[in-house]
Amino acid sequence: MASLNWQGVSDQLPEEQKLQLKQYRLENEVGSTNELALQQFCRSGNLPAVCFAESQTRGRGRHGRYWVSPESENIYMSLAWNFELDINDLQSLSLAVGVAVVDMLKCYGVKASLKWPNDIQLQGKKLAGILLESSIKTPGQVNLVIGIGLNVSMSADMNEVIDQPWTDLDRETDCELDKNEIAGKLLSSIMQLCTEYEKTGFESYRDRWQSYDICTGASVQIKDGDNIFAGICLGINNKGALRVMVDGDEQVFYGADVSIRVNKDAVN
Ligand code: BTN
Repeated sequence: MASLNWQGVSDQLPEEQKLQLKQYRLENEVGSTNELALQQFCRSGNLPAVCFAESQTRGRGRHGRYWVSPESENIYMSLAWNFELDINDLQSLSLAVGVAVVDMLKCYGVKASLKWPNDIQLQGKKLAGILLESSIKTPGQVNLVIGIGLNVSMSADMNEVIDQPWTDLDRETDCELDKNEIAGKLLSSIMQLCTEYEKTGFESYRDRWQSYDICTGASVQIKDGDNIFAGICLGINNKGALRVMVDGDEQVFYGADVSIRVNKDAVN
């Protein structure tokens, strides 16, 4: 697919968001857009700022995994934002980002699902991934990077290097795909989310998250560090933590070190 151009991307932003955005970068190749955003945007303090890249050589995934990032086939985006909130109030932001991405995908007639906390899937195949990383944390102030990898039109050869089932927008929609338009809609929806989240927190996203979730009611296996728990998923609490009935007791799981397996799915 053709490379992104800023005119095409920014055409999708309302005037207010164009004025709000302080910096943008469109790179051909970077190590990781999250790394760039943390090292350059967050350090400069001139936020919000966004970086898109055509490819990444050290794309970062959750649980320290590598995010396969072939050139020009997908969208790799990192938005750096200054939240006037405590880090504890941002615990469930990553789930709300998942909701915003699923909502955005509806523009292309795609009804994606969420697997806790924010895996974006279609019939068990990964369509997009989200990785949040923070830099400055002072009371009431956090600079956060929201990284999103969205598969757009990926060659089947990638099966050799991606260790989980995956799909892309091209395979899932009949709509004509314009990468600039998709990137712009994605950016706009995440900027809108950040603005709203500062005012409302997770509360206004929770019901939608729950309606997109594939885990509630399912038999699950939870890996929390070295411990493994089996139980029935009860959904999430108001902080976005996962509730699981384990041997008749409800247990609550938080955090980046927890992964979930639903029935026979691969461990996330
Ligand atoms: C996951 O493992 O599900 C999260 C993957 C997040 C990948 C994106 S691609 C853009 C941004 N830059 C990175 O290095 N990672 C995120």
